[in-house]
Amino acid sequence: MPNHPPQNLTVATTGASGAIFLRHFLLAVERDQRIQTVNFIASDSALRVMAEELNVKGRATLIARILGSTGKPSAKKIHLQSNDDIGANVASGSYPADAMVVIPCSVGTLARIANGVASHLIERAADVTLKEKRPLVLCVRETPLHKIHIRNLYRAADAGATIFPLIPAFYYLPASLDDMAREFAYRVLAHLGLPQPDAFRWKG
Ligand SMILES: Cc1cc2nc3c(=O)[nH]c(=O)nc-3n(C[C@H](O)[C@H](O)[C@H](O)COP(=O)(O)O)c2cc1C
Repeated sequence: MPNHPPQNLTVATTGASGAIFLRHFLLAVERDQRIQTVNFIASDSALRVMAEELNVKGRATLIARILGSTGKPSAKKIHLQSNDDIGANVASGSYPADAMVVIPCSVGTLARIANGVASHLIERAADVTLKEKRPLVLCVRETPLHKIHIRNLYRAADAGATIFPLIPAFYYLPASLDDMAREFAYRVLAHLGLPQPDAFRWKG
């Protein structure tokens, strides 16, 4: 963990269900003044799922449309990187990224990260994050899990990743799916040292 709250985040999204969690994560990082730079990468399968779940189609103005009507029309600090560009900034350990989050993370991407297969930018950036011993958070979503998934979860955790399954909490009685996804995004940010002022806090 850097000795300051992360200022430079890599955010990747892959073809697992749960694009609403990505939307709320990006809304929160866009709003958080402590975060100055976000490099954002979407796999082709993520685009397919976003078309189904957010009605966001294609790459043009992708970030603004993920952020939706409550987001700014052009997110200034979120930069879209191509998953095919293995020469992008975040492909190198010399680039000062502080941490990386994959939300949602498919079991396919999990498998590639857990086994060091770095043929696209998402997996390469995750590989770099692990080798540089920076925080890597994998918001994995699949159910049920078979033994290969469970082995890959173990391998990724053993290499230093945090497995942060897309499992929302219910004890704060979320009023809507947006409410549920927002609190989940806040939990990921708090884990990275970026607690959000309006997050629910259990008082016991
Ligand atoms: C609507 C839809 C929902 C999907 N949900 C999941 C899921 O929850 N978890 C998962 O691992 N894969 C899911 N998949 C399958 C992945 O998208 C597929 O395995 C893909 O190859 C993953 O590629 P990526 O890891 O490069 O994004 C889903 C696919 C579609 C079209």
